[in-house]
Amino acid sequence: MDRIETPDDTDLASHYAPLYERVQHRISPLDWQLYLPSIDAIRRLKRERNAIVLAHNYQAPEIFNTVADITGDSLALARLAMNVDADVIVMCGVHFMAETAKILNPTKTVLIPDLAAGCSLSESISPRDIKLLRERYPGAPVVTYVNTSAAVKAASDVCCTSANAVEIVNAQNSDTVIFLPDRYLGAHVAGKTDKKLVLWHGACEVHERFTGAQIRSYRAPGIRVLAHPECPPDVLAQADFVGSTAAMSGDIRSSGATRVLLITECSMADNLAVELPNVEFTRPCNLCPHMRRITLPKIEQCLRSLTPVVEIDPTVMDGARRALLRMLA
Ligand code: 13P
Ligand code: SF4
Repeated sequence: MDRIETPDDTDLASHYAPLYERVQHRISPLDWQLYLPSIDAIRRLKRERNAIVLAHNYQAPEIFNTVADITGDSLALARLAMNVDADVIVMCGVHFMAETAKILNPTKTVLIPDLAAGCSLSESISPRDIKLLRERYPGAPVVTYVNTSAAVKAASDVCCTSANAVEIVNAQNSDTVIFLPDRYLGAHVAGKTDKKLVLWHGACEVHERFTGAQIRSYRAPGIRVLAHPECPPDVLAQADFVGSTAAMSGDIRSSGATRVLLITECSMADNLAVELPNVEFTRPCNLCPHMRRITLPKIEQCLRSLTPVVEIDPTVMDGARRALLRMLA
């Protein structure tokens, strides 16, 4: 691999010293030394390629805080991807997020540093399953979580994220709604709407590992418990606040909490701790193996080679776009 010429190590360290100051409590000096050549190369390559790096809140701190131009939850990334003006979008997240960016901004080159960055929810359902459900519940609209493939989105009526699921379900003109594929998010939404929800059996392999007993064991006076709605009901029952990754971050700021138990993928607490140094985070640490496939060397390589490119099957493009645009509307 040919490297872009970089200053020597001492120059690099002093050039990026202000950036390190920001992340020093999350990244050790030894790791920083290892990361610096890639961070520097990625920042140069972004300019050369006219590229923008989007990173989900679950990306590792060395990516989220040093090379990302746009960060957020699934909803924010979808909205912002649609308006990216640059030629190239690099999605530091999982495959369905990169597909969403391509569907919403199809003239751009969309790259994902590792094509194998999947999602257990996306794997749990196919367009054929939706066809069978429609036959079983004729007339019921299909609301599909964005954590699904483009083909599944195309077979649905409208998409939702964890940030807008209740609102989207309530907007359906039917008493019965098919809600796919996360059974835990579905159960949470069912508790907040008068509609009858038909659920699927999908689950997030990261959030389903948390238990109510585990959360109780972390409870302490003055601690605020926040949980993502992909967690099982016994976990959500212990939470002071339930919401998307962006909503949880908003709650910490607005509640003024200084001790937080964050029940979600644990890189998020590391990233929040950079921005909110006065908040003490505790959490049982579950990492998403798919999000962790994205690394600095893979981002660098992807910007050098402009691969792997994310493409959408033309037969599902229009349907998937329609379902996403209905959500955004
Ligand atoms: P958010 O939409 O809350 O960012 O969550 C995405 C996700 O993959 C959660 O596991
Ligand atoms: Fe999918 Fe769960 Fe990973 Fe989110 S955390 S990408 S829902 S496996």
